Amino acid sequence: MKTNIGITDKNRQAIAEILSKLLADEYVLYTKTRNAHWNIEGPDFHDKHKFFEGLYEQLDEVVDSVAERIRTIGHYAPATLKSFLDLTHLTEKSESKNDSKGFIKELLTDHESVIVYLRENINKIGNDLGDVGTSDFLTGLLEDHEKTAWFLRSHLK
Ligand SMILES: [Fe+2]
Repeated sequence: MKTNIGITDKNRQAIAEILSKLLADEYVLYTKTRNAHWNIEGPDFHDKHKFFEGLYEQLDEVVDSVAERIRTIGHYAPATLKSFLDLTHLTEKSESKNDSKGFIKELLTDHESVIVYLRENINKIGNDLGDVGTSDFLTGLLEDHEKTAWFLRSHLK
């Protein structure tokens, strides 16, 4: 059945492309957060091991929500590791020596990069592409990333 929700095919396609890049970023960020959880070393090991666990659990839910939003507007979600690496704006390269400061700096940069991407696209999707549902969904996601970025930033004072 055709998706008949009051958004043109062309606009749904454009929105799906924006969301697919976002899904790739969230998936890579999820994996990088698991890396931090697994490989963190130092005197604050236990505290940061748990902290990173909370962050990747949140991202696991985010990944699912973004993929299901793509399906909701009538497109298929990219779902291979290769496609995520092709689509993502983030890099897997790690500068960190497995210390908490290095991991936190790296994750903060990535969350901020996702925040900028979301901010660039929320108004475009709502106003130009006529999808207030996705625009609203991404606004909530923006706030979640901003809060996580604050948490991460606060470790670096
Ligand atoms: Fe674990």
